[in-house]
Amino acid sequence: MVEFGEPIVSLENVYKIFGPDPRGRALDLTRAGVVKNDVQRLSGHVVGLTDVSFSVNKGEIFVVMGLSGSGKSTAIRTVNKLHDITAGSVIVDGVDVQALSGSGLQTFRREKMGMVFQHFALFPHRNVVYNAGYGLKVQGVPRADREAAALRALAMVGLEAYANNATSELSGGMQQRVGLARAMCTDPPILLMDEAFSALDPLIRRQMQDELLEIQEQVHKTILFITHDLNEALRLGNRVCILRDGYVVQIGTPEEILTKPANGYVAEFVQDVDQGRVIDVATVMRSVVVLDPDQTLASAVDAVGDRRGGFTIDADGRPVSLLAVSDAGIALAHGTTALKDVLRTDFETTTVESRLNDNYAAAGRGMPIAVIDEAGRLVGELEPREIMEEMGRVEQLIDGFEREVFL
Ligand SMILES: Nc1ncnc2c1ncn2[C@@H]1O[C@H](COP(=O)(O)OP(=O)(O)OP(=O)(O)O)[C@@H](O)[C@H]1O
Ligand SMILES: [Mg+2]
Repeated sequence: MVEFGEPIVSLENVYKIFGPDPRGRALDLTRAGVVKNDVQRLSGHVVGLTDVSFSVNKGEIFVVMGLSGSGKSTAIRTVNKLHDITAGSVIVDGVDVQALSGSGLQTFRREKMGMVFQHFALFPHRNVVYNAGYGLKVQGVPRADREAAALRALAMVGLEAYANNATSELSGGMQQRVGLARAMCTDPPILLMDEAFSALDPLIRRQMQDELLEIQEQVHKTILFITHDLNEALRLGNRVCILRDGYVVQIGTPEEILTKPANGYVAEFVQDVDQGRVIDVATVMRSVVVLDPDQTLASAVDAVGDRRGGFTIDADGRPVSLLAVSDAGIALAHGTTALKDVLRTDFETTTVESRLNDNYAAAGRGMPIAVIDEAGRLVGELEPREIMEEMGRVEQLIDGFEREVFL
């Protein structure tokens, strides 16, 4: 698990109410727990955010996910003060955002954050390098300097060859890359991305997700990413916050969301997700039984117990051979007594950080898979049936929540 730095964006008990008198009755009702629809009916005010708290840590991709109208854009807009908030506080890099105004606010936005939106908002007849460097132009950076910075940002998103093309000549995915380059051009520590990939075709969208992850490996920005797509959230997010009707339902790592959904609402979402892509081997592997090649077959079978097998290792802890229980049964029936006569070296290995999806083929052989760490040492064992059980878990979770009332 990657460690991230201190919180750099924090929303603390943030309320946002839209209407002529946001701090009046509507806020009282919301604070008292009255749901959004009823607040609207009783006060004529729209609840944007209800007691929302989350922190985005330095270097993290934090994804806010929710259905249309759940408050995602409202939340991200509190971070750059495109919205005033009704109550609570928003702290960015130690600065109380609500206290900013005028040129102080402008400087803060410019220095701290870059923004990427669903609609690329490019100048269609201007060329790519002009669009990418636009943020610097606004800051009054001389042309040569901003073009140099724009070209660097364009190289990062793989578009340097198109620097002199008009943006209207580019595909949607390429245009969004220009948008990303523009946000990165000023090298801000924070990136705010509101549905940045939502307008793209599924295939292009996945490519953009991969690219963002690759770029993030190099630049380590703090990214607040908004999406209504749970697959995208789980794919990109180091942590994911699920919003519903303006309030936080759950915050967790993708694995926590998948394996421990906070309630039936989340569980319902999760059932459509391809979990094998998210859950890693470390989560489901078992401790491994290490065997001595000189021991008897009978004692090895005892040691293996209810597992499907055990491994022998070399002096450096690397797996050398496998005793598969399926082999042991046959060998014992034929009177074999020495473990070493039954050991096989054609076993499968996998790594702790690989995903379950990557292990289906190997699991298909029906034998335990050796799990190794970076140094190649045996650290665990993956059983084919555990992969399958893990895949079935969410279904059981949903069954467990079935009594819950869905509003
Ligand atoms: N300027 C506004 N005036 C009044 N109500 C607003 C305003 N902006 C947002 N809202 C309301 O606040 C709630 C949250 O809206 P928001 O735009 O944050 O949702 P969202 O999660 O971003 O949705 P989408 O996925 O459709 O972009 C909605 O009920 C919306 O109608
Ligand atoms: Mg929105």
